[in-house]
Amino acid sequence: MLSSLREMSDKMLVPDSTLERKRTRNLVNIRKYNIDDEYKNIGKGKSYFVKTYGCQMNVHDSENIKAILEEMGFNEASDMEKADLILLNTCAIRENAHNKVFGMLGRIKHMKASRPDIKVGICGCMAQEEGVVSEILSHYRWLDLVFGTHNIDRLPAVLYKALNNKKLEVEVYSCEGDLIEDMPVKRDSKYKAWVNIMYGCDKFCTYCIVPFTRGKQRSRRPHDILSEVKKLKEDGYQEVTLLGQNVNAYGKDLGNYDMSNLLEDVAKIGIPRVRFVTSHPWDFTDEMVDIIAKYDNIMPYIHLPLQSGSDRVLKLMGRRYTKESYLKLFDRIKNTVPNVSITTDIIVGFPGETLEDFEDTLDVVRHCEYDSAFTFIFSPREGTPAAKMKDEISLKEKEDRLHRLNDLINKYSNKSNQKYLNKVVPVLLEEVSLKNDDMVMGYTETMKLVNVKASKDLIGKIVNVKITDVKTWSMDGAICE
Ligand code: 5AD
Ligand code: SF4
Repeated sequence: MLSSLREMSDKMLVPDSTLERKRTRNLVNIRKYNIDDEYKNIGKGKSYFVKTYGCQMNVHDSENIKAILEEMGFNEASDMEKADLILLNTCAIRENAHNKVFGMLGRIKHMKASRPDIKVGICGCMAQEEGVVSEILSHYRWLDLVFGTHNIDRLPAVLYKALNNKKLEVEVYSCEGDLIEDMPVKRDSKYKAWVNIMYGCDKFCTYCIVPFTRGKQRSRRPHDILSEVKKLKEDGYQEVTLLGQNVNAYGKDLGNYDMSNLLEDVAKIGIPRVRFVTSHPWDFTDEMVDIIAKYDNIMPYIHLPLQSGSDRVLKLMGRRYTKESYLKLFDRIKNTVPNVSITTDIIVGFPGETLEDFEDTLDVVRHCEYDSAFTFIFSPREGTPAAKMKDEISLKEKEDRLHRLNDLINKYSNKSNQKYLNKVVPVLLEEVSLKNDDMVMGYTETMKLVNVKASKDLIGKIVNVKITDVKTWSMDGAICE
């Protein structure tokens, strides 16, 4: 595929999965974001719409993309149908994420038939996939621009070229570029902020596309992270979430400063709520658990992906822990951090997963009684080792296992929520409830969604709420005077 992709791409910069797999020892350059004056007015009088798929990392990238577009003079459109420029910030984690984007492109092509002047671009993780870009070059030549996860800062230049040359502009780097500081950001919330602490992942779990689409692990310098958090506190933010594909490995590429040091330094800044995602059980140190327990403003909420409870499957997944070591870590967290809530991710139907393997997963769920879990059927991703493993389990069997797992997960979610009934807990109120105009929604320290009968004036504040009703996915509450 590579040679034909290269031929088709006539001097475009297209992704190359062989290069994406490589890890170099090259030092990462750090540079400050800068936009040339010539790009600053090209969006004047025009509007944009960014549609985001996937994880929090993508949500935060979109916040950067929106701010860059506004520096170029564009305004945000209230919906896609009205926009002059549409960008799809895509996710590649499972087949259905792909399908959603290609489905959306069908819809947009229709729109473009009646409004030929609209410009359409693809960015994010799918743009880093060789197969996707090949598909775009063969069947979606009507698109205007494609850029990847490593060169978001190049958006002004790529868009400028696409507008001037009036043809599809593709610029995707296969190797990670510099670490870019001071990227502009248009945050979705005035109270909660995402803060990147690292980019990329070197774990190479055998099912996962992320090490290809996001490149090698690169930690931001502690000073840059801490300055960003201090500024957020000054601006009145109540909560920061430290973001990375594998935050526990933070600092491994820096030397003498790790995630427990960072968490402690961030907590000391005194912002009311500190969170972090996503953890890998492999790098979760005892020091980290102790720091989480020590600081009241580090939230007692931990997402600890299990993926499978079977040692045999964990080995095939390349996860580097066993059922026993996972449970040991789980118990240590539960016994050290008061009232901690722990959630997880689980994949069913990994190639070769037997009923016995699946029972091991259920066994771990029964022990852990997770507060909630994201559960998935294995989806083969092109270029990953697991995609080549023999997979003889029928879809029907995989769906049956998913249902059985979800039933168990829901039982424990409900059980953990029930413990909140009539309790008083602090809730950060965020916005008017989607379901009821008279209610305001927010989250507990443990990340439980609560709809509260409260005045809209309290939005942005942390208030004490008495829980009056508990459902499987949310709770209702009333302000406690
Ligand atoms: N198939 C199914 N689920 C996957 N995940 C990652 N890759 C795949 C895949 N190929 C799940 C993992 C991960 C979560 C973000 O998505 O459970 O933790
Ligand atoms: Fe999707 Fe992973 Fe990319 Fe996030 S990093 S957008 S989950 S593929």
